[in-house]
Amino acid sequence: MSYRTLDDLAGGQRVLARLDLNSPVSVGVVQDNRRFSRHAETVTELIEADHRVALLAHQGRPGRDTFLPLEQHADILADHIDHHVEHVPDTFGLTARDAIEALDPGEVILLENTRMTDDELPERDPAAHADSDLVRTLAPMFDAYVGDAYSATHRRHASIVGLPTVMDAHAGRVMVSEYEANSAIATREFDGEVTMVAGGKKATDVIDVMAAMQDRVDNFLLAGVVGELFLRVVGYDVGRDIDEEDVYESQWRANRERIRLLVENHPSSLVFPSDLAYADENDERAEDTVADVRNKDHDYRDIGADTVSQFSEIAGNSAAVFVKGALGVFEDERFSTGTARLLEAIGRSDAFSVVGGGDTSRAIEMYGMDEEAFSHVSIAGGAYINALTGDPLPGVEVLRGEHGRNRDAARDRA
Ligand code: 3PG
Repeated sequence: MSYRTLDDLAGGQRVLARLDLNSPVSVGVVQDNRRFSRHAETVTELIEADHRVALLAHQGRPGRDTFLPLEQHADILADHIDHHVEHVPDTFGLTARDAIEALDPGEVILLENTRMTDDELPERDPAAHADSDLVRTLAPMFDAYVGDAYSATHRRHASIVGLPTVMDAHAGRVMVSEYEANSAIATREFDGEVTMVAGGKKATDVIDVMAAMQDRVDNFLLAGVVGELFLRVVGYDVGRDIDEEDVYESQWRANRERIRLLVENHPSSLVFPSDLAYADENDERAEDTVADVRNKDHDYRDIGADTVSQFSEIAGNSAAVFVKGALGVFEDERFSTGTARLLEAIGRSDAFSVVGGGDTSRAIEMYGMDEEAFSHVSIAGGAYINALTGDPLPGVEVLRGEHGRNRDAARDRA
């Protein structure tokens, strides 16, 4: 892919950088997470190059209790970069414009949550967004745009696709590393088998990925809710809701035909769990072989020990492993074995490895693993799915473009 990066950006400019600091929130408190530490590298590089830096980001969506101003984000980011980040409670009004004008070289401001403006959220084409007040106001105030919000590039929002359409646009460090690693399954040839861990709770997403990648993946290791739904299709009495919670049945109705087709067309690439773990009457971990699950009366929470060994061997002998979804409820230590042991095996192997999805990658620090053991740990959710399915990422596509084309367009408009 051809895009300009920070290597092509001369120092000392006015730079508008779009990050993705969208974070989990617990009782109103924004939780620090990998997104801050990753974007910190891009921001530090911009500071060191003496740019005047304004940052754009979002948090939550209107109507949700995670929809917050970015004051806490500025403080968390400041801790990561060891440099003051001024939160400006305005995105492109007078207060924002004054703060942008007042920037000195090496200074950083974080403008208010882009989703607090009417212009940001409508899903529109880049050209339509380029006509929005947000873009028309901010673009002429800067020399360059840095797109670093890879994890929001599946959204056609004003700050993701509108600004880079009319500005001299560059991909930031997060954008480049995420794009290249996550797209590898669709774009790279590997000298050996390609394995995908197909787990987690979001069966529809995972089955989308499996359907799109069925010809490129040699082994799908089936686990989690996804694994139980596959077992149900081939006749085991699992993958049903035991409590009231509707985890399985709605996803079963939505996906059973697609699962059947995958089982019919690709039987040799599907690796089913051979045993599953549950909490017994003493609340301790116990395991059943899948042959024993005919009268299901437990909630299965993890793969069993034999499955862990089998999956670890397959992953360890693969040339590439992509992880989509956890193997069990790893937040509960009793059921962390599948996820933690398999990630450890992947980390020890020489395979090119990508671990995606915020939930799964949380297991890496929770169980004391070294992130460096993997080729890439993605900070993206929906964008990771698009990368794995080969669906477009409009926010990446807009960063492609001929040298200077966007900047020239911006000058014409100004
Ligand atoms: C994310 O957190 O995955 C991105 O910021 C996109 O957020 P959204 O799903 O609310 O658009």
